[in-house]
Amino acid sequence: MAKFDPGKIGLLLSDERYAETDPTDILIGAGLKKGDVFGDIGCGPGFFTIPASYIVGREGMVYALDVQEEMLEELRKRRPPENVRIVRSLEDSIPLDEETLDLALLAYVLHEVERGDTFLREVRRVLRSGATLVVLEWEKMEEEKGPPFEERISKEDAKRMLEEGGFRIVKSENLNPSHYYIHTVKA
Ligand SMILES: C[S@@+](CC[C@H](N)C(=O)[O-])C[C@H]1O[C@@H](n2cnc3c(N)ncnc32)[C@H](O)[C@@H]1O
Repeated sequence: MAKFDPGKIGLLLSDERYAETDPTDILIGAGLKKGDVFGDIGCGPGFFTIPASYIVGREGMVYALDVQEEMLEELRKRRPPENVRIVRSLEDSIPLDEETLDLALLAYVLHEVERGDTFLREVRRVLRSGATLVVLEWEKMEEEKGPPFEERISKEDAKRMLEEGGFRIVKSENLNPSHYYIHTVKA
């Protein structure tokens, strides 16, 4: 599927986005805490990465992973704290050892991946037993902002993909009219 256009990277760190979505609230609500090893898979320029690095603190670690070098370069320019490791990922292959992460986030990434089943199997591999995976996505509807309707994944389809990928759904809810949130654990 189409990847986010790096030419529009500013949208991912816009004032409008911060006004609509508080990344720290979402991460704490997902259960992220001091000392955790967190994976921001498809991190973009780090809207969630940098707040996560403050939550996990020096005892914790954040892996910021993305397939697009332009995204990682933008994140480097923001000079993230020392507990952030910036790693180039591959479409179906995450360069981390198995059972590395306590909590992983896919924020507006699932609708961009080529092969959802293979990708989720890989995400599952790098999560510890019982670890959390949180998915944020765009509601399947026509909207001026965000990805086109045909690229969006409905909440029901996302839940099905996650269950088939070996995740247990704990909670799903709407964050606002445009976005939904699914909280899962590695089954
Ligand atoms: C819409 S952006 C969101 C970025 C960030 N999560 C945020 O919320 O600001 C989606 C990101 O996912 C990345 N991406 C797409 N497919 C990926 C994959 N298979 N593995 C890792 N990153 C991927 C894209 O390069 C892009 O930076």
